[in-house]
Amino acid sequence: MQFPTNPLASRLGKAMLALAVGAGVAAAVYAHGDMVPQAVDTRTLPQLGEKWLPENPYTPESNAHKEALRIGSSAYNQNCARCHGLEAISGGISPDLRLFDKDCSGMADAGKKQACYKEMEEYFVATVRRGRVRDGRVYMPPFEGTLSQEAVWAIKSYIDTRRVQ
Ligand code: HEC
Repeated sequence: MQFPTNPLASRLGKAMLALAVGAGVAAAVYAHGDMVPQAVDTRTLPQLGEKWLPENPYTPESNAHKEALRIGSSAYNQNCARCHGLEAISGGISPDLRLFDKDCSGMADAGKKQACYKEMEEYFVATVRRGRVRDGRVYMPPFEGTLSQEAVWAIKSYIDTRRVQ
């Protein structure tokens, strides 16, 4: 099965490293047992329709940002924290999402930085929708059909607030 690859990792030639790390965590992930994804109530957010947007509409400048953070932090805790850690601080089993787009944050050119964040948002959404399944092993379950696009962008908004440099 095809799974999305981290554009930054490939760019930096770290893809093989990521694969090696991924293979190493498989046993630990299994120890978590079955994962029951939780549906998230997103009725209080602006509704986005069926078509997935290429970037997060709940920007810090938007009126929906505060509500996106409220919903996103709770949805993160219910669906992601067991692997990626409480408050997005990874215990080492799964990638630390505070560092997810760290290489963009360091870019001096504002235009390039925005383009980099956008690329990473597309990669984020693709990963969450499809999960990570390789050779029949579920490293991360697919959330397509469980989490709406509103929920996924709200989670991304929350993770953005957890960035560390
Ligand atoms: C069962 C454990 C598990 C759950 C639950 C889980 N993940 Fe993951 N996630 C992983 C693992 C393990 C990887 C790395 C997989 C690999 O090596 O291919 C990963 C990778 C990712 C990546 C790619 C990171 C990168 O730098 O390439 C993102 C983004 C991500 N997860 C977001 C989420 C979000 C958001 C949720 C909740 C909606 C979630 N994950 C739920 C285990 C999990």
